Amino acid sequence: MRKLLATGAIALAALATGAVAIAAGTTEPPPQRKWHFQGPFGTYDRAAAQRGYQVYHDVCAACHSLQLLAYRNLMELGLTENQVKDLIKDITVPDLNDDGQPIDRPARLSDRFKKPFPNQAAAAAANNGKAPPDLSVIVKARADGPNYLHGLLTGYVPYDKLTPEQIKEFAVTKDDNFNKYFPGHKIAMAPPLADDKVAYTDGTKSTLDQQSSDVVEFLAWASEPHMEDRKRTGVRVVLFLLALAGFMYAVKRMVWSDKH
Ligand code: HEC
Repeated sequence: MRKLLATGAIALAALATGAVAIAAGTTEPPPQRKWHFQGPFGTYDRAAAQRGYQVYHDVCAACHSLQLLAYRNLMELGLTENQVKDLIKDITVPDLNDDGQPIDRPARLSDRFKKPFPNQAAAAAANNGKAPPDLSVIVKARADGPNYLHGLLTGYVPYDKLTPEQIKEFAVTKDDNFNKYFPGHKIAMAPPLADDKVAYTDGTKSTLDQQSSDVVEFLAWASEPHMEDRKRTGVRVVLFLLALAGFMYAVKRMVWSDKH
């Protein structure tokens, strides 16, 4: 028993130092923002998520896949079938024709989002050896996902704005991309967004900050499209349990009323 306890204590200590080692890394935590989808009653901001799809489509889709989504899923963002068909009218996807020959055909609602590269190796080869990760669940896959992603997209520091200490400590060259929030700072992705990079059609000002928060809203939805249902069910269950508790209390009082 004592041996078991000692092993447990050692394991706990190892875990604790591991956690401290990660926390003491060189990157600062990203700024904390308020997100529409936070909290027990939070919902996705449909307009922001629709703009976020545009950011993904116009910019990120050149490198990042979003394999868990099909085009029809975009209807869950408040778009009609015809609006989604209009959005995807210029997208072609690889398929085989009746003779088994590879062809490109127009995308259908039932198609999964088109992949920018045929496989990981091709993706890595086109990006200096680092394959861009699939973004389907990236918001869930990173600690403090929404804030981290927003920080990542807005946190690039140009070479001439770096301090000599930073250049030395992280061995940064003019060809590297330095990001304040990426672990290790040097990231193979060049800054993908900038002011006016995406032409919004709803009158929203297309700043770097706005594009970043819009694409995070979209990717947060992509990584948990049923969050709103889950929260709604949660609220109903709590209300039901409260009502049940009240009812049970009344029953208890009734049953025991003449016993004391
Ligand atoms: C030109 C190609 C390219 C474009 C365009 C691009 N990325 Fe990337 N992205 C990459 C590469 C390459 C990596 C891998 C970086 C690494 O591991 O050093 C990456 C990594 C990432 C990561 C993972 C970071 C981490 O913590 O591991 C996220 C999130 C991301 N990109 C989001 C986006 C978003 C959102 C957009 C669109 C606004 C976008 N990217 C546009 C190439 C691109």
